[in-house]
Amino acid sequence: MNRPASGPSPAERLLAWYDRHRRDLPWRAPPGARPDPYRVWLSEIMLQQTTVATVGGYFLRFLARWPTLSALAGADLDEVLREWQGLGYYARARNLHKCARILVADHDGRFPDGERGLRALPGIGVYTAAAIAAIAFDRRATVVDGNVERVVARLFAVEDPLPGAKPALYRLADGLTPDRRPGDYAQAMMDLGATVCTPRSPDCGRCPLAEDCASSRGGIAERLPRRAAKAARPTRYGTAFWAVRPDGAVLLRRRAESGLLGGMMEIPSTGWTEEPAANAEALDLAPVEADWRLLPGEVRHGFTHFRLELAVMAGRAGEGWRDADGIWVPVDRLGEHALPTVMKKVVRHALSHPPPRR
Ligand code: ADE
Repeated sequence: MNRPASGPSPAERLLAWYDRHRRDLPWRAPPGARPDPYRVWLSEIMLQQTTVATVGGYFLRFLARWPTLSALAGADLDEVLREWQGLGYYARARNLHKCARILVADHDGRFPDGERGLRALPGIGVYTAAAIAAIAFDRRATVVDGNVERVVARLFAVEDPLPGAKPALYRLADGLTPDRRPGDYAQAMMDLGATVCTPRSPDCGRCPLAEDCASSRGGIAERLPRRAAKAARPTRYGTAFWAVRPDGAVLLRRRAESGLLGGMMEIPSTGWTEEPAANAEALDLAPVEADWRLLPGEVRHGFTHFRLELAVMAGRAGEGWRDADGIWVPVDRLGEHALPTVMKKVVRHALSHPPPRR
């Protein structure tokens, strides 16, 4: 960065830009109005690993249904998980609910206004605590998400690749963060990253920081930030069991609380292992006795850290269905249960391969 000793700082320039170009987003308070911490928190949790475009509708539905923190604390967890369907990473929804209950039970229904107090709550990490402190309480906090990392890497032409460069980018971002209007500044950085300093073709001609920006001047903005080569995502394998009762209902089971998709409902399945199991081995783990047959094809799903390939066995359950662990649900009521996306794929797969007639 180089700029004249006098004249507006990058933060001031960015705030002036934000006053003219800020995005109108459902969780944002109008200019000058005090934001509702509940809305700020709800939006930030939803926006973790999910795009602004996807979150909009979910945010409005949640707010219509649970307009306040105490309303959400009083909600049934399964209802919250159901409204969360499609946003993924369900641990966020469980933590959301847990956090609402803790705040109501132990904090008078109010959010702490500083980063440290916020970080002590479930589901609120370094980034989210900083975002809430800044946006909801206008506290000076260094808010660094992927958008901000990109803006800062370009502004200072940081050539070290991510993720190793993260601490350096955080320090540079901290040095830019103003004492005045830190909440607007944080959102201005996000908007700049989302609308101008975009990953593929940054629009430097419209950027309020172009004259501060080392990589724009050097014509290398598009190439930054660099990323270290990623290790290939491994594949894991498992088998799901589509068990059908004589009246057509199918078996759902709740997954263990800990681990991926913890506490979510599933089509009962084996664990997910690094090597595919032989059919006979998988059948030892079937949830109920049935005339199991392997359906053609498989269900594939991508998680952040691995890909999953699920074989699907379908079978008509025998008399032992009464003792199966789980609940039997008519197929036309499966939609009432919060099934994670991978399990919805299993349902579609099974329904597209109806059982042979006896
Ligand atoms: N991404 C994460 N938090 C955001 C916010 N408050 N506004 C816009 N984009 C965001």
